[in-house]
This record gives sequence, structure tokens and C-alpha cells, in this order.
Amino acid sequence: MTRTVYVNGEYLPENEASISIFDRGFLMADAVYEVTSVLGGKLIDFEGHAVRLKRSLDELDMAEPCTKEALLEIHRKLVELNEIDEGLVYLQVTRGSDGDRDFAFPSEDTPPSIVLFTQNKPGLADSPAAKKGAKIISIEDIRWGRRDIKTVQLLYPSMGKMMAKKVGCDDAWMVEDGYVTEGTSNNAYFVKDGVIVTRPLSTEILHGITRKAVLRIAEEAQLKIEERLFTIEEAQSADEAFTTSASAFVMPVVEIDGVTLGEGVPGPIAKRLREIYLDESQKAAI
Ligand code: PDD
Repeated sequence: MTRTVYVNGEYLPENEASISIFDRGFLMADAVYEVTSVLGGKLIDFEGHAVRLKRSLDELDMAEPCTKEALLEIHRKLVELNEIDEGLVYLQVTRGSDGDRDFAFPSEDTPPSIVLFTQNKPGLADSPAAKKGAKIISIEDIRWGRRDIKTVQLLYPSMGKMMAKKVGCDDAWMVEDGYVTEGTSNNAYFVKDGVIVTRPLSTEILHGITRKAVLRIAEEAQLKIEERLFTIEEAQSADEAFTTSASAFVMPVVEIDGVTLGEGVPGPIAKRLREIYLDESQKAAI
């Protein structure tokens, strides 16, 4: 089945969709994005992603391509047209193009570009990777300083994933000034003596939509949460660890830089949070 995608107002077969070579998303990574998961054909936390998109656009003085209601409509239509039961909707908004390359932003009446496509991922909720748990390496965080804006500058996170793959691991956690910032595409946590530790929100990390939901669930389950800086060594001596993201929900971590956590299997708190998150978010999906 040929995928139907959305580009600047049109629903098109993926091989007929196009964007200008002068688009600033392509030339300058002058673009922001969101990834919303789909379970049972419904969108998980659309509202959270729409609010964060607006914030990213505002922080970069980028125009909104359409209303939130129109955005929801496009998401739903793509899910329906592509018959997605479990998967993702990728959304990207760029500053558009005025037909040439220039460091200066184009004039304000230049319309933003908007692209959406779906990714079909059967078995996303019942993932074998989550049953096994992830092996993590640590790498230095050399990204720019506004990681709270969800830009498409993903070269270094991609390189981090490749560094992990090269040594037989699944992902990397990034470390700045001795403290873990976040994973290449997720927020990072460890659990020690029943206390969940994660870095507080700032411009140094993305304000994860899944993070917010999972911390609320943890609080409701009477679990203790400490939002503070932490080191790789601390995480290595933890009882368990995990990451959160829209594409992998709650992913247990079983090894950090070659050190096995606990029994080397997903920990009970990560497993429980994953279960409750999947259950609650599917009930609230739209
Ligand atoms: N990544 N931190 C980073 C650097 C991320 O790229 C992501 C998400 C997160 C988690 O945010 P959320 O819970 O809102 O998905 C944290 C997406 C899934 C991606 O790039 O595919």
C-alpha cells in the first residue's frame, strides 16, 4: 500500500510529494517537529504535542501553519487513509522558502512548510525490546543549548545511536558537565530504593510529553520522585532505570556502560509504569 502523506495543504502519495530545495528545513535545519503515537487507531496525547509544537514555533518566531483543530483533522485523516492501528504520526513545520539560500530569515509573509506522514508499527505497545530492556552507553552532550525546542537538528543524536549500535548497545545517554541530560530521543530516569530520579526541566532537555504523563502516574501511585541532576555512576548503582518517549513509551534500561542493573532484566517499577501508561493513555486517546 502506497503511503499517503500531507504536504502544504495536500494529501498525496508519498512518491508524488515534494518540498523546495530552498526550504530552510532542508538547508538550515530551520524546522521543528513532533511525533505522536497511535494505538488502536487513536492519537496518544495529541493535546500535549500540539501545545509543545506551538511553544517551539513561538520560541523561534515561526508562524503557525494552521490551527490546532486543523492539525488534529490532518492527523486523524492520515491515520485513517493509511489504516494505522499502531504506529506514529510525524509532523514537521519549517520556516519555508523564499526561493534562495540566505542566513537571514525570509520576510514574515513567507508561509511555513508543513509535512506530516505516518509510520506503521504493528506491535508497538507489545514491544519485544521493552521485554528485554535497553543497553545504554554514555556519550558527551555536544548539542546546542536550546534542547527544550524540538528542532530537527538530529545529527548528533543520530550519531549517538550509531555509536551505541557499533558496540552492540541500543541507545546512548548524553552527559554534560558530569551530569546526564537525556537520551538521544528520550528522557532518562533511574530508580533507587523506590525513589525515581530524573533531571529537572530546563533549556538543557526536551520537555517530554511522555515524561509529564509518567511522572503524574508515578505520583498517583504514591511513588517518590526526585527531580535533580544525576551522574552515570549513580545510575549504574541503581536498582533499575528507564527512558520515556512517545515512540517507545516507558522503556526499561538494563545496562549502562557495561554495568548490569539489578538482575539485568526490566525492573518492576519501569514495568508497572509502562503498563499503567499504556492503559491510561489508550483510554484517553482521541
Ligand atoms: N523524541 N528527549 C529527546 C531528545 C527527544 O528527542 C524525545 C522525543 C524525548 C521524549 O519526548 P516525548 O515524550 O515528548 O516523545 C526526550 C521523539 C520520539 C523522536 O525524535 O522520534
